[in-house]
Amino acid sequence: MKMINVQRLTVLAAMAAMFALPLSARADDAAATFKAKCAGCHGADGTGSAIGKKMGAHDFTSADVQKMSDAELTDIITNGKGKMPSYKSLSPDQIKGLVAYIRTLKK
Ligand code: HEC
Repeated sequence: MKMINVQRLTVLAAMAAMFALPLSARADDAAATFKAKCAGCHGADGTGSAIGKKMGAHDFTSADVQKMSDAELTDIITNGKGKMPSYKSLSPDQIKGLVAYIRTLKK
């Protein structure tokens, strides 16, 4: 009986890890991607670096940006806008992660 319980626990733990890991890994990925590719213009906190603001980037924590739909944010990241470069090299999943990350910056 004891053996069965231990096996069951192991299976449950493995399943929990399988579901939990990709989720946290994705959030970490998005934060790392944002830092590497976006923070130069948008600032680590999304409020915009000096150069980004000069180019016309808006404060991600503001209602103006947060009221934009996921589809709009996805479109701007994928295709660019004005001086914002396009990021067609990112996968749809990575862009989805970035949109979710931008949502976390809301004030
Ligand atoms: C070279 C500077 C630069 C980089 C790097 C950059 N952006 Fe932008 N981004 C801009 C500018 C400038 C705008 C404003 C475009 C406009 O409205 O004309 C903008 C606009 C945006 C917007 C729409 C909200 C707003 O501020 O107007 C989103 C969302 C966005 N960028 C996300 C990203 C993400 C995600 C990355 C990284 C993958 C990124 N940007 C990298 C310059 C940059």
